[in-house]
Amino acid sequence: MTTTNATGSGPSVPTLEDLPSVDGKRVLLRADFNVPIHDGEVTDDLRIRAALPTIEWLLGRGAQLVACTHLGRPKGMPDPRYSVEPVRRRLARLAPGVDLLDNLRFDPGEESDDPAFVAKLVDGFDAYVNDAFGASHRAHASIVGPPRSLPSAAGRLLAKEVDVLLGLRTRPRRPFVAVLGGAKVTDKLTVIEALLGVADTVLIGGAMCFTFLAARGNPIGASLFEEDMVGTCRSLLDQHGDRLVLPTDITALGPGGELMKPDAGGDVRQVGTRLPDGWTGVDVGPGTAADFGDRIAEARTVFWNGPMGVFEDPRFEAGTRAVARAVADTAAFTVVGGGDSAAALAQFGLDDDVDHVSTGGGASLELLERGDLPGLEALRTAPNAPEAPVATGRDHG
Ligand code: 3PG
Ligand code: MG
Repeated sequence: MTTTNATGSGPSVPTLEDLPSVDGKRVLLRADFNVPIHDGEVTDDLRIRAALPTIEWLLGRGAQLVACTHLGRPKGMPDPRYSVEPVRRRLARLAPGVDLLDNLRFDPGEESDDPAFVAKLVDGFDAYVNDAFGASHRAHASIVGPPRSLPSAAGRLLAKEVDVLLGLRTRPRRPFVAVLGGAKVTDKLTVIEALLGVADTVLIGGAMCFTFLAARGNPIGASLFEEDMVGTCRSLLDQHGDRLVLPTDITALGPGGELMKPDAGGDVRQVGTRLPDGWTGVDVGPGTAADFGDRIAEARTVFWNGPMGVFEDPRFEAGTRAVARAVADTAAFTVVGGGDSAAALAQFGLDDDVDHVSTGGGASLELLERGDLPGLEALRTAPNAPEAPVATGRDHG
């Protein structure tokens, strides 16, 4: 087991082996069971299944296990729309004998890291395990609180996510190609900058490509556009030149058209990078899809976050499908982060063909960006955290 020591010096993040014996002990497991639910049923249980190795390890050693999670974004009070009941039922099938507390975010103390809420949470427990990778970028009570008093450990999922994602920062096999999509440059700017620091090339798709295209002087029609980011995009392009790769063609929706409503009218057409007035860019075009596919095929490491277009609309899925297919087919080590990209992979039936599908969206990006997370920092201060033997000298910035 790799020690998940994100700083390279000082105390390490304790793993399950660093816990005192859990036999007959009450263990609190923070998991990220924030899963999609439709009509009272869990529609994708990846995050629940991903915690099973930790759950089985603990149960196999005699622990009495109580799990806890947040679900959705209730506003600090009970709200039946965010009941964990469907999760509880699925968990009971996958891991009988594990209790699940109420949605942590039903209490305002969760998000504010209120000491009184932490005290209530840890009351009666002998140890704490964080396997909630997807929530470990949140300095919330259930993530940072318990290690202040309880012997604590990173679960198997958290440890694996950290190992894979930090590996991309510190020892990627080259060429390392990062593919980024998503709506807004604002949301991804620090990630783009961080990836430019470690990847050889960063391919830009998704709606955010239009602000970059505008920065290059292209008319972008009615496409999504962040005017206040144009200067930033221009200086990134000036600084990094052809390491930052933009689409060379776009699939666009004509005036009067509506997303997800093919009957509403509006032509769909391939255009170059100069969009006609009134046309909205909705996907990367076939030339771009082929170019991105080639670069992914030639890479030895690939990180993909964010769809290339509105793949939920069959008229605009081709770019995302091509990237998903290329990521599945390449011999490179492939890591996919973020709920949307994982959903795209699943939609195309390719989720088994990547090396690592991260269970975290925001968490995977923050870990790549900063090399650390509040949840890891908290575990390093736990009473049982082992001293790192020697500083490794790795600089994670
Ligand atoms: C997620 O789904 O990204 C995590 O569970 C974190 O949820 P949050 O963004 O509501 O904190
Ligand atoms: Mg592969």
